[in-house]
Amino acid sequence: MNSQLQACIDQVEKDYAVDKKLLCDAFDAFIKLMDEGLTSKEQKRECMPMIPTFVSRIPTGKENGLYLAGDLGGTNFRVCSVRLNGDHTFSLTQSKSRIPSELMKGNQGLELFRYLAKKVGAFLKEHHADYSCATDGRLKLGFTFSFPVNQQALDKGTLIRWTKGFDLPNVVGKDIVELFQLQLDELDAPVDVVALANDTVGTLLLRAYSNDISKSNAHTVIGCIFGTGTNGAYFELADKIKKIDVPGNGMVINTEWGSFDNTLQVLPSNRFDTIVDSETANKGYHRFEKRISGMFLGELLRVTLKCLADDGQLFAKLKEKRGGSLPHRLEEPWQLDSQVLLYLEIDDSTELRMSGLILENELRLTTTFEERLAIRAITRAISKRAGLLSSIPIAAIVSRVKDRYKDDDRDFEVGCDGLVVEFYPGFQDRVYEGLGMIDALKGLNKKVYLRIAKDGSGVGAALCASTVDN
Ligand code: BGC
Repeated sequence: MNSQLQACIDQVEKDYAVDKKLLCDAFDAFIKLMDEGLTSKEQKRECMPMIPTFVSRIPTGKENGLYLAGDLGGTNFRVCSVRLNGDHTFSLTQSKSRIPSELMKGNQGLELFRYLAKKVGAFLKEHHADYSCATDGRLKLGFTFSFPVNQQALDKGTLIRWTKGFDLPNVVGKDIVELFQLQLDELDAPVDVVALANDTVGTLLLRAYSNDISKSNAHTVIGCIFGTGTNGAYFELADKIKKIDVPGNGMVINTEWGSFDNTLQVLPSNRFDTIVDSETANKGYHRFEKRISGMFLGELLRVTLKCLADDGQLFAKLKEKRGGSLPHRLEEPWQLDSQVLLYLEIDDSTELRMSGLILENELRLTTTFEERLAIRAITRAISKRAGLLSSIPIAAIVSRVKDRYKDDDRDFEVGCDGLVVEFYPGFQDRVYEGLGMIDALKGLNKKVYLRIAKDGSGVGAALCASTVDN
């Protein structure tokens, strides 16, 4: 790489750098913001939401029965029926559909719920036409709705705000279960939405259900997602949840950690982060998520490349050839899929020719070998930061629950789901590296393991529904 380009890349790496001090400061801040969120009744931008979920027990693996689940988490809606076998295992039947983009934005919020209800109806017709899973002719459905919701009961919760590209203002502040139930009733579907769950709650319940402690020797303490968005849930003790009266000894809390440090007191922030935030519908919110999750990694790379091109540091020849412009997929927001970063990172072909082809195909961007080296370095800087930052909430929650297990020598495990944690090369290693730097379990003979828990949002919702008595 020529020295001018090298200096520019060195600067970008600095812009995305995260060190031990930052992680430790952020770890302290996270614990403080957890307490503030558990105390404050008001939803303030500077607080983490820390939402009580009204799920008051963690599965043991002995639950059984047949339940329905609906799952709206991002671009897809899934309908599932789940048979819990009572021995840590389950079987699942499901169908998935892509949400039409016109239902994700605009003033037609109710249309979205009509669409979901229709999909449930079609699923029942196809897989349970005899309503074989019904009790008293009605079916119980757990609804995984993976957006910040102010939950007032297991089956009641109002939407705080949309994330992940959804923007339907007339749904904000409304009870999600009521909206969905109304549409199901209109279709005469014999279905009762009995539980509303976040995907992280489902992931926690699913992993706890599947975890046979006698074999794993580890307690499941967190359920989390590193996918299109990021978030985590854990069980909190009643006396710490000061903002509501908690019956029993505690409740699962949906932290909504995507909104950790919205006011950027400790999180790193560079000019590329500022641009990405300004392009989103939830500006100033979910700032942690915007540094970590799949929806934003691609956009961070696109914005970084575009800024360097505008500064004359990259793609100068290409621009000249094109009369001063860049390919439109580099110019326009949200045109670079995070999947591209994954391919760029695993490329070991001569002169990074595979990356060349991918950039050409995905962005219509012709590159030189030197430029590909630069793009790879930037990609690594972005994903390294994402992985290291992801260790902060895990370390904070583990440190918070550790005293409950002080007379127990088992390890801790974190149930995780999402494309980033499952497939992004090196992501899990970076999380472990960050956990090592923070060292939240110093002095204890315990380890933290990340365990992939797929289908939390389907099976977990069914587990939530299973907690409701007939
Ligand atoms: C949402 C969370 C969700 C997470 C992972 C975030 O954008 O606010 O509710 O759990 O994405 O899907």
